[in-house]
Amino acid sequence: MIPEEVFLKIVRSAVKAPSGHNTQPWLFAKEEDGICIMPDYSRSLPIADPINRELFISLGCAAETAMIAARFYGYNAQLNNDLLVNQGTIKIILSKNDALEQPELFSYINPRQTTRNLYGDSPISADDLIKLKPIVKEAGIDLEFIIGQDKINKFLPYIFEANTMQMSNPCFKHELMKWLRFSEKEALLKGDGLYAACIGMPSPGKTIGNFIIEYFVTIKSEEKRLQKQLVATNMLVMFTSENNDFLSWIKTGINLQRFALTCTQLGLSHSYVNLPCQISQVRDKMKNDMGLTGFPQLLIRLGYSRKMHFSFRRRVNDVILK
Ligand SMILES: Cc1cc2nc3c(=O)[nH]c(=O)nc-3n(C[C@H](O)[C@H](O)[C@H](O)COP(=O)(O)O)c2cc1C
Repeated sequence: MIPEEVFLKIVRSAVKAPSGHNTQPWLFAKEEDGICIMPDYSRSLPIADPINRELFISLGCAAETAMIAARFYGYNAQLNNDLLVNQGTIKIILSKNDALEQPELFSYINPRQTTRNLYGDSPISADDLIKLKPIVKEAGIDLEFIIGQDKINKFLPYIFEANTMQMSNPCFKHELMKWLRFSEKEALLKGDGLYAACIGMPSPGKTIGNFIIEYFVTIKSEEKRLQKQLVATNMLVMFTSENNDFLSWIKTGINLQRFALTCTQLGLSHSYVNLPCQISQVRDKMKNDMGLTGFPQLLIRLGYSRKMHFSFRRRVNDVILK
């Protein structure tokens, strides 16, 4: 069994992984031969993510981060494939190995962030593109580069259609409001959710913040915001998967985190324009119209920009299954 302090160090790194609405829908347990990462369904998003697709992508991100951290602390880390689909629990088998090379992505776990500001107009260098392409290693997962305004514009109708469907659903807004944090005090106290400064909003407190979302954030205002972001974007990447099940979602998350850490290493910002992947009718239409072979799982914009406020995390003790 790994020593308690190594387990805690691995979990402290793993919780830095991204998750939809920063729900951090994971629980960790120490096992005889490794670590288990389990879904915490009390943190699911029934409206934005009704089949827990993004929840399992988030768990995959946490698993990849845990494996990188484990290698940094001198342990071989491997997924136990038999357990991967057992109630969605991910098992990582660990064994001590003092001869391991330090994983270079470890130092990018803390500085990685979802950066939602506008990106500069310099195109992504060919050298960086070459480093990003081979990141996807799992069978059945693919990464597509969408470069240039003409190609990006083809995604706009699907992004806008999904935005209209989400924003005209009052339950979507209410669920979002539950995870928005309009004061630093609340964000720090809860250690989760979307802190206003991370999404480029002011922090006027809960009552005024919710009032703004209820009455001033509309289909049109969101369309304008998305359009502005996409006009300032030279490149999108799309993760697709051959199947659309637990295993594919977890594998997508594993690759997403490796991708996000590599972007951080290269000084590239990334953020999500996932809307057309989130609504099944829109996703299926986009898949058919564009002749995509895989299921679109994530749509991400890439570019160069300054860092934003970092999002908060819950305490390690709160995510360990006792
Ligand atoms: C599966 C998944 C889906 C996400 N979808 C969105 C999204 O649609 N829009 C967005 O702004 N951020 C999205 N995010 C980013 C999360 O909101 C972000 O990871 C979380 O707030 C924590 O912040 P951090 O990534 O800066 O640590 C997504 C992240 C994951 C893992």
